[in-house]
Amino acid sequence: MSGRVFATADDTRAFGADLASELRAGDLVILTGGLGAGKTTLTQGLAEGLRVRGPITSPTFVIARIHPSLVGGPSLVHADAYRLGGISELDDLDLDASLEDSVTVVEWGQGVADDLSDDRLEIVLRADPGTESRTAEIIGHGERWKDGLSC
Ligand SMILES: Nc1ncnc2c1ncn2[C@@H]1O[C@H](COP(=O)(O)OP(=O)(O)OP(=O)(O)O)[C@@H](O)[C@H]1O
Ligand SMILES: [Mg+2]
Repeated sequence: MSGRVFATADDTRAFGADLASELRAGDLVILTGGLGAGKTTLTQGLAEGLRVRGPITSPTFVIARIHPSLVGGPSLVHADAYRLGGISELDDLDLDASLEDSVTVVEWGQGVADDLSDDRLEIVLRADPGTESRTAEIIGHGERWKDGLSC
C-alpha cells in the first residue's frame, strides 16, 4: 500500500500515464472516490499511456466503453460501477472485447462495500477541500499485485 499526492489534474494524468506502463492485458483497476475526485482524470492519463483511442469521458450514460489500442496493445475497458451494479456484472456484459485481452478500469463510488476477492489494483482518490490537491491511496490485492507498484 502506498500514498501519493497529486497537486494538479495534470499530475493525476501523469501518474495514470506512468501506471499504464505497469499494466497488462487482464488487469483490473478499481478507482474509488466521490464526485470529482479525479477518477476519470486518472483514466485519461492511463489511456494516454496505453495509447488507446479517446476521448475518455465519464461513462455516465453507458455502462462501459471500449477504447481500442492504437498500437496493437490491450484495449481499455472503462466502466462505471453505478451503472453496473457490481463488478461481477462486467463479465455478463456482451462487450465487444474480452476482459482477458483488455485493461479494465472501473469507477466505483465512495463507500460501496468491497467484497471483491480477485486480483485487482485499487486506487482511492480523495479531494483536499479548498485546494486542487488529491491524495491517492494505492492498494494492491491478490497475487498479481503482491509486490506493489514500481512507478
Ligand atoms: N489534482 C487533481 N486531480 C484530478 N482532478 C483535478 C485535480 N485538480 C482539479 N481537478 C479537476 O477535478 C475534476 C475531476 O473530475 P473527474 O471527472 O476526473 O472526477 P471523477 O472522480 O471521475 O467524478 P465522477 O464521480 O463524477 O465520475 C476535473 O474537472 C479536474 O480538472
Ligand atoms: Mg468519472
